[in-house]
Amino acid sequence: MAEQRKKLTLQSLFKKVADGKPITWLTCYDYPTAYMQEQAGIDMILVGDSLGMTMLGYDSTLPVTMDDMIRHTAAVRRGAPTAWVIGDMPYMSYQPSVETAIRNAGRFMAEAGCDAIKLEGGAEMADRLHAIAGCGIPATGHLGLTPQSASALGGFRLQGKSAHQAKKIVDDAKILEEAGAYAILLEMVPDRVCKLITERARNCIIMSLGSGIDAHGQLLIYHDAFALYPKFKPRMAKVFANAGKVIQEGLAGYVKEVTERTFPQPEHYFGMPDEEYEELLNLLK
Ligand code: KIV
Repeated sequence: MAEQRKKLTLQSLFKKVADGKPITWLTCYDYPTAYMQEQAGIDMILVGDSLGMTMLGYDSTLPVTMDDMIRHTAAVRRGAPTAWVIGDMPYMSYQPSVETAIRNAGRFMAEAGCDAIKLEGGAEMADRLHAIAGCGIPATGHLGLTPQSASALGGFRLQGKSAHQAKKIVDDAKILEEAGAYAILLEMVPDRVCKLITERARNCIIMSLGSGIDAHGQLLIYHDAFALYPKFKPRMAKVFANAGKVIQEGLAGYVKEVTERTFPQPEHYFGMPDEEYEELLNLLK
């Protein structure tokens, strides 16, 4: 096993930004993938409520519960002990009230060993984010395409295309920073808007998902980047390795070899000495 690196902290993340080094971020939902991401040197891991779609097969993220999130996040933490692990607050785990938001953010920290949480929304959710940050829990904002509001936003589409829509996102980013967000994810906003927000950020790490190159770092959904989600591939996702194809071919090979009785071979199973076998037959008489 590779030598274990030092634990990522808020300080080390801000130092990367100050040094002009991009921050790497991927989603992850399980122990073996977290282990591989940690070995690859990923800085931040988001246990996204996208697991509702990528892991549980729902059509949206809305059915995901806090208990689903805690179980997956704890597994990721076990696989990636030094990455900065962010628990994504699922639908209705923070919207109802400030108190609900604090309690559920606390569960991510106490039960799943998170370093931070993420919640969706701008000015209208700033009081939740402020209260969570006030409890000493690093809070990540999320603007632009916010999947929990996909219905109100008209689907999974680019946000902030017009000057007026873009101004709301720029204003929201400032409001979240002032509310205490240490980082904000911009999902599917035009690259120029992302650049403006990044340039205006004072004490906040701006991350891009499909929002261009000028943020302090990049996020991708793991299942998109490795072709593991069969339903669709968003334009912003580059496929870095076609793991889905490799696994599909392996599965076809397994089915074929078992069907044709070419698997297993003697090296894959265990024998018994002749004398023991003879005695067994005698015992069975
Ligand atoms: O749940 C998730 O993975 C997310 C991303 C879409 C940013 O929130």
